[in-house]
Amino acid sequence: MAAALMSGDGANAAASPAVFLQACRRQRVPYTPVWIMRQAGRYLPEYRELRAKVDFVTLTHSAELAAEVTLQPVRRYALDAAILFSDIMTPLQGMGIELEFDPGPLVRQPIRTLEQVEALAPLVPARDVPFVTEAIRLVRAAAPRGVPLIGFAGAPFTLACYLICGRPSKEFEAARAFLYAQPQTAERLLDHLADQMATYLAAQAAAGAQALMLFESWAGLLGTGEYRRFAWRAARRTFAALRSLDVPLIYYANQATALLEPIAELDVDVVGVDWRSPLGAVRRMLGPGKAVQGNLDPAALFAPPAELNRHIDAVLDEAGSAPGHIFNLGHGIWPDTSPDAVARMIDHVHEQSARARGASAS
Ligand code: CP3
Repeated sequence: MAAALMSGDGANAAASPAVFLQACRRQRVPYTPVWIMRQAGRYLPEYRELRAKVDFVTLTHSAELAAEVTLQPVRRYALDAAILFSDIMTPLQGMGIELEFDPGPLVRQPIRTLEQVEALAPLVPARDVPFVTEAIRLVRAAAPRGVPLIGFAGAPFTLACYLICGRPSKEFEAARAFLYAQPQTAERLLDHLADQMATYLAAQAAAGAQALMLFESWAGLLGTGEYRRFAWRAARRTFAALRSLDVPLIYYANQATALLEPIAELDVDVVGVDWRSPLGAVRRMLGPGKAVQGNLDPAALFAPPAELNRHIDAVLDEAGSAPGHIFNLGHGIWPDTSPDAVARMIDHVHEQSARARGASAS
């Protein structure tokens, strides 16, 4: 099966390429679509081979190479969506932020003052990120099986975490302290980021991205009051600016079990969650108007094959038979994951979900 899928033939060739987009819109689909957060990346031998020759920033700033890396996983596997190869921090360089990657983002001058916030430039996509929109056009022209392309940005609060702290962190103490010490400045920063990310995502949609996703990786660090005042308000502002576009909007929130009530109020099509919350409970909290995305623990890919299947079945069972589930991991795939385990996961999601639909129809 894997060999057939690598060439783009086999089980999936007959399937509708729009299954992912239909599931985003909570339409009935013949099987559960699947893609993987960080699917273009270091667990893939072909990515590592390229990365040995080219540094990460060069990869993201070259339209041809970014398109190639975006396509690597969808050529190898029967994935139902591609995600643009880039980073949440990449567009911030256009706003005057000096940035390096080692491997996570390092901001040369962390943002701590109102003057710095006021000095941030607006993002002009044609000037600042032409390689992103060009990569999107290249991917759309070359995508195997007509696989749809997801464009993305960092959610404002998650970007602010890196901008304020200057580097990856477990607790992002400086960013959280900033919310309490300088709340008005924090709101200014978040509003600015919300508006620039709306501009950035709209440019991605105009270039051909067929769904738009905000990554809210660190909102789970906040209590509900701070989440609402800062992260939620800013994410809502970005989504409101995009709602009139004809593309599904996806909000991924990590460690957000305690935040599902405000998240249910966001005007988005899909909510992605980590593995800590069972999807059945998530769907009850979000109500019938939203699709869900997730949520296998990335660690489950290290289970023996039969066990892995059991864990996948548990996610599918939790998601239930109502339309509107996109299978994914609960957070990014780990670099030391076996590429074979990924192939088995994708095949099993497709086969098991198609079988379950057949059983309920007869
Ligand atoms: O998902 C994909 O395949 C598309 C590409 C993508 C990358 N980063 C490439 C990348 C996406 C969607 C991201 C999003 C991103 N970046 C997030 C949100 C999602 C999440 O995981 O929570 C965050 C928080 C970042 C910030 C970031 N960039 C970190 C913390 C790191 C280093 C650690 C890590 O996980 O790799 C990066 C660097 C980065 N971004 C790499 C890749 C492939 C590794 C760079 C390398 O090859 O050395």
